[in-house]
Amino acid sequence: TLFRSKQPTKNAVVLQPEKFLDQVELNVDNHPEIAKQIAMIHLTKEDLAIIRQLHEFVIPHLDEMTTDFYDAVELGSGLMQIIEKNSSVERLKVTLRRHIEEMFHGTVNEAYIKQRITIAHVHVRIGLGTKWYMGSFQAFVSALTDIIMNLEMKKEDHAKSIKAVTKILNLEQQLVIE
Ligand code: HEM
Repeated sequence: TLFRSKQPTKNAVVLQPEKFLDQVELNVDNHPEIAKQIAMIHLTKEDLAIIRQLHEFVIPHLDEMTTDFYDAVELGSGLMQIIEKNSSVERLKVTLRRHIEEMFHGTVNEAYIKQRITIAHVHVRIGLGTKWYMGSFQAFVSALTDIIMNLEMKKEDHAKSIKAVTKILNLEQQLVIE
């Protein structure tokens, strides 16, 4: 009927962070500086719960996301050579896929921080410049924005989702660039 498009359908997603709070963890007790970094971007347990709820909608797009990522990497200078020298596109696709998936578990704890410190060290060792890391990272920001905006949601939930996801991506970059 005429007004149907305005009605929520069975595909509509309603954010319910309270339902996911018990599945998330925000524990950086051993890292006072990182606690301040988290406070600065106002990343809360509620954001992690939102991210946890969005997990199932991100999973189906992981292959596409890693492909977009490598399309971006190919546009950088010398990056494919760095990959071929230290790893392979196929291996890194698996690593990256798992990494993005884990990002949506809503768990920011000791293991999470340690893993990001490892990534930072690996990238330094292989000589990946910060500008190329930042540049290729945009592929994830763009893909995740599309995924969220394509969900049928009310405007406030779209805004909350985008903010929660960009906060976790921002923290990721803060930790890996250090
Ligand atoms: C390693 C993530 C950008 C090249 C890794 C690892 C992760 C990761 C999770 C595995 C670390 C470990 O050993 O546990 C990311 C993310 C990026 C990014 C999230 C987002 C921007 C790049 C770019 C390049 C690159 C742009 C291009 C040269 C590599 C290579 C390794 C690696 C070659 C593996 C080295 C080895 O196997 O020892 N990265 N990376 N990464 N990354 Fe990245």
